[in-house]
Amino acid sequence: MIRVDSLHKHFGGFRAVDGASIEIETGSITGLIGPNGAGKSTLFNVIAGVLPPTSGTVTMDGEDITGLPPHELFHKGLLRTFQIAHEFSSMTVRENLMMVPARQTGERLWNAWFKRGRVAEEERALAQKADEVLDFLTIDHLAEEKAGNLSGGQKKLLELGRTMMVDAKIVFLDEVGAGVNRTLLNTIGDAIVRLNRERGYTFCLIEHDMDFIARLCDPVIVMAEGKVLAQGPADHIMENEAVIEAYLGTGLKNKIKDGTQ
Ligand SMILES: Nc1ncnc2c1ncn2[C@@H]1O[C@H](COP(=O)(O)OP(=O)(O)O)[C@@H](O)[C@H]1O
Ligand SMILES: [Mg+2]
Repeated sequence: MIRVDSLHKHFGGFRAVDGASIEIETGSITGLIGPNGAGKSTLFNVIAGVLPPTSGTVTMDGEDITGLPPHELFHKGLLRTFQIAHEFSSMTVRENLMMVPARQTGERLWNAWFKRGRVAEEERALAQKADEVLDFLTIDHLAEEKAGNLSGGQKKLLELGRTMMVDAKIVFLDEVGAGVNRTLLNTIGDAIVRLNRERGYTFCLIEHDMDFIARLCDPVIVMAEGKVLAQGPADHIMENEAVIEAYLGTGLKNKIKDGTQ
């Protein structure tokens, strides 16, 4: 689905992404791991149109999408989750979901001014869709809660829920498990697997939690110093000497080896 070829992203003389080539197969849950500073988030940001690449190409289903802005990628079904912006924290969870389609196209604003008759109908349809999403994510009891009052993990679920308000094909998740408790992390993991199996979502996710990666992802791509170091099934990756070497000094080596992470 996604093919990244010889991608470079330099900041001044610093090569954050240094000639990375990856492929994300349709229907996969692809994991992207690597030590801090490896260039994972930068790679995501270039794919998602947040940052222009220095050189290299990104294609989606054979079409060159290099450097397209996020809203155009959004229309192609390529989504990257964002933290709930501060200004939306005083809106309810349901309202946060309902505004996803609107914020991207401006259509609802247009309708509000010129097609008042249709607005109520659309609002009802959107509210129903939002409630289905909340039900799917097992947070329907939070529909009326202000987004700002959610726990870290619940916010991550809401971020994932926002991708379900439109027809996403591929979703990029950057450290969705960071600071999330084990129970909610499992809920997030289950939601990802169900979206993958039942709705055909393809995922690419950056995550530090090796259990989470091993449970969900195949293949796993390892980056270090802006380059792709290895790629394969999680169990192979974690035995790969070059990978273990890349994690040396980060404290992860022993955790990988004795299986505690
Ligand atoms: N906007 C930027 N300007 C300068 N350097 C940056 C910028 N964004 C990231 N970097 C640097 O690029 C490297 C890779 O960062 P990042 O992609 O966030 O790594 P990762 O997500 O793998 O931890 C880091 O050394 C970081 O400091
Ligand atoms: Mg990062």
